[in-house]
Amino acid sequence: MANPIISTKYLSAGYDETTVLDDVSIDIYENEITVVLGVSGCGKTTLLKNLIGLMRPTKGMIEILGHDMVYIQEHEYNRLMKNVGVLFQGGALLNSIPISYNVAIPLEQHTNIPDYLIQEIVRLKLSLVGLGHAYNYLPSQLSGGMRKRAALARAIALDPAILFADEPTAGLDPVTASSLDNLMLTLREQMGMTLVIVTHELSSIRRVADKIIYLDKGKVLFSGKLDEALESEIPEVKNFFSV
Ligand SMILES: Nc1ncnc2c1ncn2[C@@H]1O[C@H](COP(=O)(O)OP(=O)(O)O)[C@@H](O)[C@H]1O
Ligand SMILES: [Mg+2]
Repeated sequence: MANPIISTKYLSAGYDETTVLDDVSIDIYENEITVVLGVSGCGKTTLLKNLIGLMRPTKGMIEILGHDMVYIQEHEYNRLMKNVGVLFQGGALLNSIPISYNVAIPLEQHTNIPDYLIQEIVRLKLSLVGLGHAYNYLPSQLSGGMRKRAALARAIALDPAILFADEPTAGLDPVTASSLDNLMLTLREQMGMTLVIVTHELSSIRRVADKIIYLDKGKVLFSGKLDEALESEIPEVKNFFSV
């Protein structure tokens, strides 16, 4: 089997005295969509924060695209993060500027691409997420689903190899959610991206997931192919897929 593009070994992490992740060892492979599952509070967001270097683990190792995330130096980290897109819970757009400017931010910060080309790239990314018409809109002029898509356009502005998305379809209506799922599939199929998605939506999971990682109280209860997860006899996993 190919080498994993993201890998953790015996990863433990938490806040102050509380341990949230306990001995988490996972492998995530290139050009696959891996869905991270588990009940609220089990540590999914904490796992993402550790993977992208926003938190330091208390124990264990994390490797992304061949970089050791625990001992990484700042300049190497900044370079690596150009290749990693992140779509946070909530989207976090800057509200006082049009979405075109929001999407342009990573291009302005991380590249020397001239302005007129940045504008072209922004147009491309916005039309990819179905917001070609909304170039000049402020975030407040967009619906929840459109804001999510604008945040996605910003997350993929630099054509990252890896995209992390924390509950990207939470709170969206089923039609908007399914169009976002299709976008995720497009990113994998046409742009060769590797995606790591936290989601609870069963319909989304069935549509997009190649692999499932099921977390329970900070431990990996199941890790494997979607088909295997659907057939799993592990009570929590079985229960999740049979509701
Ligand atoms: N900034 C924080 N400070 C202290 N505890 C936190 C913080 N963020 C999350 N936690 C706790 O860590 C646990 C896991 O949270 P989280 O990773 O956000 O779960 P999930 O994303 O699976 O719902 C929860 O018990 C939560 O209360
Ligand atoms: Mg969370």
